[in-house]
Amino acid sequence: MTAEAKVRRAVCPGSFDPVTNGHLDIIGRAAQLYDEVVVAVLINQTKSSLFSVDERLAMLTETTSGYGNVRVDAFRGLLVDYCRANDIPVIVKGLRAVSDFDYELEMAQMNRGLADVDTLFMPTNPEYSFLASSLVKEIATYGGDVSSLLPEQVHKRLLARVEELKEQR
Ligand code: PNS
Repeated sequence: MTAEAKVRRAVCPGSFDPVTNGHLDIIGRAAQLYDEVVVAVLINQTKSSLFSVDERLAMLTETTSGYGNVRVDAFRGLLVDYCRANDIPVIVKGLRAVSDFDYELEMAQMNRGLADVDTLFMPTNPEYSFLASSLVKEIATYGGDVSSLLPEQVHKRLLARVEELKEQR
């Protein structure tokens, strides 16, 4: 063992449009396993989003502030390039159901082949196995109750954005 122990760092990547209780469950569990967890928001100009990258970062910062070892960042391009540049050897991903597995396995194997970056799959808490940001946005748009699926401040921002969009129509 060297005198200076290496920091064990992991990344939780995603769109987080917006962050849900399911994401936070995975981030919180990752924070118990690693010295430092970076929650990295993909900047993807080709995908339309409800919240800007800055808004998504603000919601993540607010909702992860209770963890001393979680920080929030944004990235463009390949996740493995971000990992290399930030000395992150592990990606942590939540698996909700078998239906997630094929795509996630493909990406995990590709990322390992590209840059030796490994992926740790964490089974989602069954309470959140059906939870996806896309569904939450759709339900909220049509007036459904998603308050139990999101942190309170995220829920408030979502309802406000839905109202703004209604007024613009
Ligand atoms: O929350 P999402 O949209 O399911 O997250 C997907 C994400 C951001 C993790 C994935 O699309 C990604 O890693 N994109 C970065 C681009 C990249 O590295 N693509 C090659 C993957 S093998």
